[in-house]
Amino acid sequence: MTSILEKYIEYLPLAGAEDVDGIGEGNTPLVRSSSIGGKSRLYLKMEQLNPTGSFKDRFAALETELMKRQGIRAFIATSSGNTGAALAAYAARRGFRCLLFVNEFTPASKLDQMLVYGAEVFKVKDFGVSNELSAPIFERLQQLADEGSTRLVISAYKYSPDGMEGVKTIAYEIVEQFGGVPDHIFVPVGGGGLLSGIWRGFKDLKARDIVEKMPKINAVQPELNDTVVTAVNENAETAREVFTTTSISGLAVQVDIDASLAVRSVSDSGGRGFLVSDEMVLDTQSSLARKEGVFVEPAGAVSTAGYLRALETGYLREDESAVCILTGHGLKTVLSGPATPARPVKFIQIGDIGIGLLAEH
Ligand SMILES: Cc1ncc(COP(=O)(O)O)c(C=O)c1O
Repeated sequence: MTSILEKYIEYLPLAGAEDVDGIGEGNTPLVRSSSIGGKSRLYLKMEQLNPTGSFKDRFAALETELMKRQGIRAFIATSSGNTGAALAAYAARRGFRCLLFVNEFTPASKLDQMLVYGAEVFKVKDFGVSNELSAPIFERLQQLADEGSTRLVISAYKYSPDGMEGVKTIAYEIVEQFGGVPDHIFVPVGGGGLLSGIWRGFKDLKARDIVEKMPKINAVQPELNDTVVTAVNENAETAREVFTTTSISGLAVQVDIDASLAVRSVSDSGGRGFLVSDEMVLDTQSSLARKEGVFVEPAGAVSTAGYLRALETGYLREDESAVCILTGHGLKTVLSGPATPARPVKFIQIGDIGIGLLAEH
């Protein structure tokens, strides 16, 4: 079996499908921490070991498998980095054309990865800077997708709900690997889709009486992108609007994409929210590398930083078990910030997003 999509097909919108194809996504190890959590029972879910180095492969594998079945052979997508790399790889595998629109802050290593897989990449001026500046860009991209009879792919339940169901498989694997339900799961939150998918996965298992209880699903965010954490801790129903200034690639998502869904998912599970500074995240990234031999990108260290906060505050007892979701590989941000990727990227403005782009070639 090359794909977890096949293994968990009964839980996914692929019922009865044959010839499901993958490149080894999922099946990531659950590793017991050797020292970071002290005497506590901390486990690391190694999502950085997916084929393109992040959990987004679970989404991209399913989203593109569904497109294949619907006869779609070209698509456009937005990305802060990891979604683009994942979609580019699966598009290559399936022989699709993949047009990626990224913001100005995407690390050069992630851009390079997209380009190596053969995606056409456009860096859009002012994309992701604020809700006001991003809205017309999303609108324009939607027009482009409609005109090309394809879809605008965004790794969030709000836009691509079927493909996002691939993320649920993280929960199924944890239960198999842990041999039950851990007390706590710590999840980094950007747009909120990852956390919502994991919550939905556990809900599935509970509905089928495969597990008896839900784990407490705890949201962790950089304090400079607090859309979900304070909302959860104040028992709000919806996410907050913020102006994001975090430097953590992948987690600077101020728009409420799946954030309100994530707020409700955390509350339903009985979990809480934890804020961490960018500095704490970088310290935790170093600790994971130096004490555990595990190299993740900063966003991949956020869950563990939140876990350490939870221990410090006494919310988490040492006899409780916890799983931290490590989401992206450390090599993803080796060339970060304004460094130039090895391959050139087209830099465009909204007015340059040409209708008909999909028809070119
Ligand atoms: C490495 C990494 N971790 C976490 C996230 C957050 O996922 P979500 O936006 O679904 O909350 C992202 C999103 O891009 C990511 O790239």
